[in-house]
Amino acid sequence: MARFRTRYVAFCALLVVFVYHVLPRDSAIPYIRRPRRKQEHSDGSTEGLAQYMNDLKHVPRITLMKSSFDWNTVNFTYPPERTPRIPSPVTTRPRIQYDFRPESARVAAVQEKRRLEVKRVFEKSWKSYKSQAWMKDALKPISGESVNQFSGWAATLVDTLDTLWMLGLRDDFYEAVDAVARIDFGQSTSSRVNMFETCIRYLGGLLAAYDLSGHEVLKVKAIEVGDLLYAGFNTDNSMPVDFIDFDAAKDGEGLTVEPSVVSASPGTITLEFSRLSQITGDDKYYAAVSHVMDTFYEHQNETMLPGMWPMMVSMRRQDVVTGYQFTIAGNADSLYEYLPKASALLGSSDPSSKKYEVMSKNFMDTAIDNLFFRPMITGSEDVLISGNCDVLKDGPSLDPESEHLACFIGGLYALGGRLFENDKYLETGAKLTRGCVYAYKSFPTGIMPERYNMVKCPGPDPKKACKWDEEVWATEREKRAEYREHLPKGFTTAKDPRYILRPEAIESVFVLWRITGKDEWREAAWDMFQAVANATDAPFANAAIDDVTVVGSGQTDYMESFWLAETLKYFYLVFADPELISLDDFVLNTEAHPFRLSKTQA
Ligand SMILES: *[C@@H]1O[C@H](CO)[C@@H](O)[C@H](O)[C@H]1NC(C)=O
Ligand SMILES: *[C@@H]1O[C@H](CO)[C@@H](O)[C@H](O)[C@H]1NC(C)=O
Ligand SMILES: *[C@@H]1O[C@H](CO)[C@@H](O)[C@H](O)[C@H]1NC(C)=O
Repeated sequence: MARFRTRYVAFCALLVVFVYHVLPRDSAIPYIRRPRRKQEHSDGSTEGLAQYMNDLKHVPRITLMKSSFDWNTVNFTYPPERTPRIPSPVTTRPRIQYDFRPESARVAAVQEKRRLEVKRVFEKSWKSYKSQAWMKDALKPISGESVNQFSGWAATLVDTLDTLWMLGLRDDFYEAVDAVARIDFGQSTSSRVNMFETCIRYLGGLLAAYDLSGHEVLKVKAIEVGDLLYAGFNTDNSMPVDFIDFDAAKDGEGLTVEPSVVSASPGTITLEFSRLSQITGDDKYYAAVSHVMDTFYEHQNETMLPGMWPMMVSMRRQDVVTGYQFTIAGNADSLYEYLPKASALLGSSDPSSKKYEVMSKNFMDTAIDNLFFRPMITGSEDVLISGNCDVLKDGPSLDPESEHLACFIGGLYALGGRLFENDKYLETGAKLTRGCVYAYKSFPTGIMPERYNMVKCPGPDPKKACKWDEEVWATEREKRAEYREHLPKGFTTAKDPRYILRPEAIESVFVLWRITGKDEWREAAWDMFQAVANATDAPFANAAIDDVTVVGSGQTDYMESFWLAETLKYFYLVFADPELISLDDFVLNTEAHPFRLSKTQA
């Protein structure tokens, strides 16, 4: 049963008064914040849904159940500082999206067909989740069974809320909100809760769904998860833990920071906590994460590759300097992703937020000089691939290994190009994204592998094109322990040949489409979608595949929540009205959850 607190009852009473006086008399809609401006809720769907964001008549009555433990009552042994305060955003930001014009009826009809096809694939997965795995973390797409791998708070459901809204599936959305209202964040199926996953999927999902719909239940639940994560900062140096020991966190005695974590873990809280502070007016979340990022800021130029941080860091010692492996791919990825995005979200030159812009430009310049390479390929495509950099005795050395996770970086450079008005970033972003599209196209399934190697162009600048040399490729390929006969030309391994429904490549294609308006990106997206939908189609939904190098690869009974939260959302948004989730109104977290860019009213 819900535990109604006095404060909560008072809150309800106020809401009833509000609803009664402000909303139309025939509506029975508690917990809804009326949109301030019409365009705030752009749907952009061509199914006549454009106005429904302001139509509050059909919102069902939803009863909120507070969680069995109030995370706001934890008595901290080590209370974090409550400053700096979150700054007010500026009134103007650089324009991000291309100035789209109406298209011919013929072109529009093609895109509309594609949009509906993506929606059809989404609906199959969603219906199966509802019938087979409702309130569980994930659906198994082949067997139709379910699994709880993220604390058992219905990860797929929370992660998919905003996609339902964007696709115009209004009844499903409110059905899901009703379920969210009953999630108990005071209990977990695991004794240790992962900070990173909980932040990006649950808190991110709730914040975005709230930003889109204004439904107060989502705000209340976002605060519950936010306070749970905030308890992870109850440590002697106010740095966050990687895993929250659930029971220890509740009694407030203080948690022990792990000696070594992947840098993405402490680096991927900024957007969620900043947005939570903006929405609640409570600075504590912003302050907590600002101190974490100060550690990265202060030492950015002292590492073995100044401008970037090693893949592993120690928040216990606040050591973000020791280590020789550098990458923007897995383990580090969203640490970098959140720097330009935090700069966009905060939209301020206040000192506590200015650091995100400084860190962004600094890492972007460093990665261009040390991580990206032009692969030796048979054609003349102008592509770049993101590799890894090890700094050994002889200085930085570029290892031409890449992975699907790295494919977000093209979109991030394009976004950075617009935000910081830098054409080199934009151009680099396009080449990196073309590199991922190239990799998709190269394999017989039309999908790139999880991890692979190519030959980098020789010479002092590996970003400069070189001539195809069959012998060099063959030699490099045979040297590899993971030697395989049937690799496409240019690739020397498919080290991990799986495709596990990941979004990063289509994410960058989506960003490039919205920023440049060039049709090449929409066409690439359609090729990718057909390939992915085809190879992953499974009895109940879509399944990871084992080997992208062979047509008709086997599948694995595995579908993570990001398939519905990210991959299909990005595909859908490429073919939908470009004003739906405009990049001038929203910034997306690393799980594709859009946070509204607040603007001070001029
Ligand atoms: C925190 O301390 C207050 C006052 O002593 C107490 O009422 C409250 O129950 C404590 N909170 C928790 C979670 O133990
Ligand atoms: C690190 O170097 C960059 C580039 O030179 C500079 O903009 C930035 O201010 C430096 N950071 C610190 C903390 O000194
Ligand atoms: C996959 O592709 C094949 C061959 O192009 C086609 O016949 C089939 O209908 C496709 N399957 C799906 C699920 O799209």
